[in-house]
Amino acid sequence: MNEPLPSLKGLPRALARRSAIDPFIVMDVMGEANAREQAGADIIHMEVGQPGTPAPRAARERAAKALANDRLGYTEALGLPRLREAIARYMSERYRIAVSAERVVVTSGSSAGFVLAFLALLDTGESLGLPSPGYPCYRQILKAVGARPRLIETNGQGRWIPTISDVEALKAEGAAGLLLASPNNPTGTMALPGRLAELARALKRERLWLIADEIYHGLEYDAPADTALAHSDEAIVVNSFSKYFSMTGWRIGWLVVPEALIRPIERLAQNLYISPSAIAQEAAIGAFDGIEELEAIKRGYARNRAMLLEELPRAGLTSILPADGAFYLYAEVTRFGADSEAFAKAMLREIGVAITPGIDFDPEHGRSYVRFSYAGPEADMREAARRIASWLKGK
Ligand SMILES: Cc1ncc(COP(=O)(O)O)c(C=O)c1O
Repeated sequence: MNEPLPSLKGLPRALARRSAIDPFIVMDVMGEANAREQAGADIIHMEVGQPGTPAPRAARERAAKALANDRLGYTEALGLPRLREAIARYMSERYRIAVSAERVVVTSGSSAGFVLAFLALLDTGESLGLPSPGYPCYRQILKAVGARPRLIETNGQGRWIPTISDVEALKAEGAAGLLLASPNNPTGTMALPGRLAELARALKRERLWLIADEIYHGLEYDAPADTALAHSDEAIVVNSFSKYFSMTGWRIGWLVVPEALIRPIERLAQNLYISPSAIAQEAAIGAFDGIEELEAIKRGYARNRAMLLEELPRAGLTSILPADGAFYLYAEVTRFGADSEAFAKAMLREIGVAITPGIDFDPEHGRSYVRFSYAGPEADMREAARRIASWLKGK
């Protein structure tokens, strides 16, 4: 379902095939919702996974000071040593494991982290296992770098996380490894206790890469998420300041890589990006002093989650996947007749609530699901629930 290549009219020759990746539908929906808002419509944003809050105060203050006093030139390609140390300290304390600053690579959002990791680990034509439903950009970034996504169907029995037999199948097919996210996007589901350790062991035994997207760590509502680093010194961990730290637009994230990968990733980072944004790195150092504020924001997500888990089923959305973490609810909409794309479009047009159709996350079954992001302000989330309930009453 790749986008068609544009016609050659006005171009000297055909574009590279890798440019024909699918759009990130979340961003297309956001574009449409913003356009409606600018035209005067009263829109509630539940389409994008982004906090309704700014960066923590300490991060903004540190950035303001840097703006006033610093040159803000290029930094080291792997990131400011002070930030790498702060990230290593944060992870060591959070997970109670030793993480050395040398293994931390600061990136322009986790998005750039995926590009660096995929380029370093996968040769042209090689495949990487991806759970489905899952974050759509994994598939598109892989295609853009000349590698192949190998989708793994997940289900409720495995709590929508791949299993050991999936690892065995990947090995048999000659895949390069597996990418995992727990909590996952769009489902919000988390691996059952012990599952990550089992998968990490199996991947190590089969000599396959483990890439763990830990971007939603910190946003768990029951048990804390487990890090891949606790189970494998070969894992590549991807993380970001976008979600828990409420800093989407600053475009700052990080990787933790095995020692042997530091220099290859550094060479890629030097050539592709030179360095991550200097002011965003300064802000990120400050963000670690904002944990109290971030925990208060998280309590707001927990209240949104509890309210929606009560109100949406009452409104008729009775089939929602277990919302263990992140800030998403993934709900089945088949009983309303329309496919999820038509359902989401009608919801935006008729009641001004923007949500994302499941096809972004799951090309196979996504027409039956939609994703709600509940990271917005509590008053907005309550108003969305009210609008949805009265809208669905007529369906
Ligand atoms: C699972 C997952 N990984 C990665 C990203 C990319 O985030 P960023 O580039 O802002 O760090 C997102 C954004 O929504 C996401 O949901």
